[in-house]
Amino acid sequence: MSTAIVLGGASGIGAAVVRALRQQGDGVLVADHNVRGGKALVDEQLPGRAEFFDCDLATADGPALAVEAAIRFGGGKLHTLFYNAGILTAKPLAEWTLADWDRSTAVNLRGAFLAAQAAAEPLRASGRGRIIVTASTGALRGHAGMPAYHATKAGLLGLVRALADELAPGGTTVNAICPGWIDTPFNDTFWEHQTNPKEALASLVSRIPLGRQGAPLDVAGAVLFLASPAAAYITGQSLVIDGGYTAV
Ligand code: NAI
Repeated sequence: MSTAIVLGGASGIGAAVVRALRQQGDGVLVADHNVRGGKALVDEQLPGRAEFFDCDLATADGPALAVEAAIRFGGGKLHTLFYNAGILTAKPLAEWTLADWDRSTAVNLRGAFLAAQAAAEPLRASGRGRIIVTASTGALRGHAGMPAYHATKAGLLGLVRALADELAPGGTTVNAICPGWIDTPFNDTFWEHQTNPKEALASLVSRIPLGRQGAPLDVAGAVLFLASPAAAYITGQSLVIDGGYTAV
């Protein structure tokens, strides 16, 4: 049995990954500040054990405390770290405050660094450590009003390459996933602000070659693959999961 930590695992993509890991019998510690969602998720009846850890990943000590809880949960062992927490702030450049910028960078980028730092040794000791972070196709492009989102998601790709190099001698692989449009509560604010949400969605879907938004499960499959022995020779990479949106 493997032990995993999913940081930002209480809803959406993270919750789908938690369920998929538990389905294959893995133990999962879910670290999130969404207490209600996280507790309900770990109470689901699935083969793998699960525990919830309430933490704010925007704080300086939150990510490491979560990793420590996962190591305790795994009886000293940790095989997979999935850093999936992310927030999206969108507003005109002139309205951005230092606090907006700092919160986005803390949750989206600094938290991944701090969690990886805390987990590096137990992952090495497992002999088959895996770090996977959720970037975004937003790492590859940029849109008005979202400077911190694009900067942090692109930053994660640099972080992954640097950690892949440093942790390779210990057998730990480090990769990113770049989801495109995935149907989760994350995009609710975006859709609410469209003058005609139905039309906007139809227009988006018409530009996705596979003809639909992704589902959290579409992303979970890629994470399970990167966490599996089949991906042992893949490191420092990013995998786009977007129905072909950025390919055309
Ligand atoms: P979500 O909002 O359902 O999941 C984000 C999770 O992170 C939530 O459980 C939330 O409570 C947690 N979180 C946020 N801030 C936190 C904090 N300070 N401390 C602890 N937990 C915190 O949204 P979704 O879509 O599942 O997003 C997951 C990741 O996927 C994010 O990193 C997002 O940027 C990324 N992504 C999402 C896309 C989409 O279209 N839904 C597209 C590309 C990337």
